Amino acid sequence: MLLKQIYQDIHAAKERDPAARSTLEILLCYSGLHAIIAHRINHRLWRAGFRLLARLNSQVTKFFTGVEIHPGARIGSRFFIDHGAGTVIGETSEIADGCTLFQGVTLGGTGKEAGKRHPTLCEDVTVGAHAQIIGSFAIGRGSVIGAGAVVLDPVPEYTTVIGHKAFVLRRKGKRVYDFRHDRLARGLDPMDTYESRLEQIEKHLNLPDVSPASVPQPSPEASADATEPSTPLPAEHDGQSHTQALIQQWMRQRNRT
Ligand SMILES: CC(C)(COP(=O)(O)OP(=O)(O)OC[C@H]1O[C@@H](n2cnc3c(N)ncnc32)[C@H](O)[C@@H]1OP(=O)(O)O)[C@@H](O)C(=O)NCCC(=O)NCCS
Repeated sequence: MLLKQIYQDIHAAKERDPAARSTLEILLCYSGLHAIIAHRINHRLWRAGFRLLARLNSQVTKFFTGVEIHPGARIGSRFFIDHGAGTVIGETSEIADGCTLFQGVTLGGTGKEAGKRHPTLCEDVTVGAHAQIIGSFAIGRGSVIGAGAVVLDPVPEYTTVIGHKAFVLRRKGKRVYDFRHDRLARGLDPMDTYESRLEQIEKHLNLPDVSPASVPQPSPEASADATEPSTPLPAEHDGQSHTQALIQQWMRQRNRT
């Protein structure tokens, strides 16, 4: 059974890595494969109750391969880790048959859950380099996680996801940004999102429209006479500073409520 699994893992590397030339090369040079073989042994030790030994072996394997797989993780057949360095697979992760991980992937917990706290990858999932999948949820069969993605929610089957979520939420203990991912359609052009947010803020504050189109233009005769505009716009009405003032005012109001 163990040998069959190792044979299938070698075959998976051959099949999925165009750079792989021979079985011997894969056996000798693929640290991802070395980590998987060690895990297959460590997982058996773990299940047989030799937990400290299993943990110790997994740390030794990490030292040599750069791949840290907790011996409790359950991994199906035809698993391939390409390159591998920096990959971390947590204790309660479950990986179904035919999955592929690139280097730097984390299958981690949020630190807030107990029990099952790491992700489940269904069959034939591919996780791109340095993607971070955090929490106890499933990535559907055949899905692809783009390189560098930070995934915090379940992904349906045969779906490709990209991108990450980091933004300033709290400063010095105070919430400063009311961004709610679940209220925004994804995939919007960031500038469109920004403009529509600004419009919402203006409506919310009931401010007069100060866009260039709404500012009355002097008649051609008047402007021919005038060397300077008779009523220049206040400094806060010019582009950037006006926008910043609106946002600050809106945030002050949010923080009071
Ligand atoms: C996500 C991925 C699978 C491509 O999926 P795809 O459906 O073929 O997507 P496309 O290449 O057609 O790109 C579609 C759009 O997504 C963007 N995109 C692709 N991958 C992205 C990623 N990882 N992060 C952010 N944006 C990405 C592209 O720039 C493109 O944007 P555009 O439409 O504005 O030009 C691929 O880019 C990826 O990340 N693969 C992981 C491979 C990896 O880790 N290799 C490491 C080898 S060492």
